[in-house]
Amino acid sequence: MGHLPRFVRIGHLDDIPRRGARCVNSPLGRIAVFRTEANEVFALEDRCPHRGGPLSQGIVHGAAVTCPLHNQVISLRDGLVQGPDTGAVRSFQLRLDPATLAIELEIEATSAYGQAAE
Ligand code: FES
Repeated sequence: MGHLPRFVRIGHLDDIPRRGARCVNSPLGRIAVFRTEANEVFALEDRCPHRGGPLSQGIVHGAAVTCPLHNQVISLRDGLVQGPDTGAVRSFQLRLDPATLAIELEIEATSAYGQAAE
């Protein structure tokens, strides 16, 4: 009973405001998908590693987000809390489809959700 990584289409780039985020519910919990001023997209678990603050409501600056609760700064690239604080939040792979501006999110699907293999 392993995990099968796969990409799930979640929406379009234009659904997300620049320097903002939108949330996706997944079997792994809520995931925040961020769009930066430079038009990059990143996905992190929507739960701050400090005390569970909603990162999707944080302030996006550069390729980082500042948690709205206690201002820890977290890298959107790898989910690592920036110094002097420490910690990490889970990050997810995204794939942009330029033809349709669709965003695909790689999450793990377990065999409990249906087909064990395709
Ligand atoms: S909950 Fe995010 S910094 Fe405290």
